[in-house]
Amino acid sequence: MAAIGHPASCLSCALLLQLLMTHHLFCAALRLGDSPHDGEPDYAGQLRAATAGNVTRTVVTGPLKKISEAIDEFLIPRVEWRFSHCSGNWRKSKCVLLRVPDKAFRHFLTLDSLQFPADAKDPNRCRATVMTSSGWVGQATQEEFYFGFEQWVSEVRDSHKRTAFLPVWSDPRLDSHPAEYFSPFCGEVDVSPMTNSTVSPMTRQECFFLPTSSCTMDTAHWGKSLVNGNVDMAVPFRHRLSKPFDGLGVGDLHVMWQMLFFRQNARTRNEIARREAEWRSKNQAWPASGTGPACAAIHVRHGDKLTPFWIREHDTIAGGFNKSFDDYLDVALKMMEDKPQLTDASRSKKLPLIFLMTDDADIIAVAKGSRRAIIHTVPPSTPLNSLSDFYKDKDSIGSSDFGYSAATSGDMLSWLLSIRLMSACNFFVGNTESSFSRFLYYGMCEQRNGRCPRIFSFGRRHEQDDMPTMFEE
Ligand SMILES: *[C@@H]1O[C@H](CO)[C@@H](O)[C@H](O)[C@H]1NC(C)=O
Ligand SMILES: *[C@@H]1O[C@H](CO)[C@@H](O)[C@H](O)[C@H]1NC(C)=O
Ligand SMILES: *[C@@H]1O[C@H](CO)[C@@H](O)[C@H](O)[C@H]1NC(C)=O
Repeated sequence: MAAIGHPASCLSCALLLQLLMTHHLFCAALRLGDSPHDGEPDYAGQLRAATAGNVTRTVVTGPLKKISEAIDEFLIPRVEWRFSHCSGNWRKSKCVLLRVPDKAFRHFLTLDSLQFPADAKDPNRCRATVMTSSGWVGQATQEEFYFGFEQWVSEVRDSHKRTAFLPVWSDPRLDSHPAEYFSPFCGEVDVSPMTNSTVSPMTRQECFFLPTSSCTMDTAHWGKSLVNGNVDMAVPFRHRLSKPFDGLGVGDLHVMWQMLFFRQNARTRNEIARREAEWRSKNQAWPASGTGPACAAIHVRHGDKLTPFWIREHDTIAGGFNKSFDDYLDVALKMMEDKPQLTDASRSKKLPLIFLMTDDADIIAVAKGSRRAIIHTVPPSTPLNSLSDFYKDKDSIGSSDFGYSAATSGDMLSWLLSIRLMSACNFFVGNTESSFSRFLYYGMCEQRNGRCPRIFSFGRRHEQDDMPTMFEE
């Protein structure tokens, strides 16, 4: 093999030498020149070599398509390595990968050994705890799967259970809700048992994201027996693990889960990057991730939470959902004022930067007229409904439906882009009684390599009490 990684060839590494020595931070760069003698360079192999040992950051350079595929191949069994960003153009791209911080590292190695067992290439011999859900993105990933994951972690920690956790975002019994999320970006993915599809139920998830496990579910196992919570399947797993997952807090688990489930694959990453570049060309004041002026992200959840049905069923007024845009903005501006060290003094005479997401068109209309902040949004692919229109229509008032089933893969991509842009901010204001709001918040943490923004949540849950601690440097 021609070019192996040259860990010492990174210029910025030399400059950072002092830091590296004291913080156990190592940096590796790959130089991937043309290697005329053996054809295509083995980019994934070079990544593996360059990240051996205590390396915590690495850079890979090459044609975008080739290195994207190599990054996926490298990342799949290594949840502890995270894609950060690419720069350059398609012919010569430079992509940065980061490892999770030291305190989280050993827990992620445990996760790898369970999710990607080396001796389980044959999916029929993989022992997995399988869970299915066909809920909306928030309900599925932040409630059903998350609670299943939390239960699985505690069983692994407290007993001899050694399985992979296999979430399947589809439900054999039902015409699945999120089906629309996948088209047209994923083609017409049909996993309904009614039509005897030959597509594996894993295919959906893996249209946007990397596999969560090397154990997969084939169509043969896909049937009516797989309902009602976690189901354990197949043969024993023989790895010895000492004290797996000990000392993880609730916030740590949420972020770890997000990092397992929402690792974008090359196709999604490149699409989001393309959309980000296009959006930034029109929104040049918006800070780049981790640098530049301070900003705050706001998610205003109204929609069905404020329909008479859910006001009654879930007591959503006491849950803090009847708040105006200005109520959210008040909190966001106050948080930014209270933490001047996280804000940028050079902007103090300019209006603050806010990123807004909502499911209620009324909120967008109000925000557009705001004179207190500069409001940024990513337009949804499917136009939002408005609460005022809902109340004008006498026929809809008894209904619990706010039209979410119209969301398509275009909306999924606009959410992922929004999360990416929001993750530049150190502040988040939402209502984490909403699972969609949690999807956004933990999505920001995931994009920030585990470091969550400060949060204020209206309502009865207090995420600030459950901040993750294992991702601090
Ligand atoms: C890797 O880093 C950890 C902590 O940062 C340290 O305890 C360990 O000794 C290091 N291992 C090597 C091989 O340098
Ligand atoms: C699906 O396959 C089963 C068994 O192979 C068969 O009995 C059933 O009729 C098929 N259903 C459809 C809708 O094709
Ligand atoms: C929601 O808040 C508005 C403004 O404070 C108020 O006029 C309205 O009655 C509230 N709605 C409910 C159902 O409590």
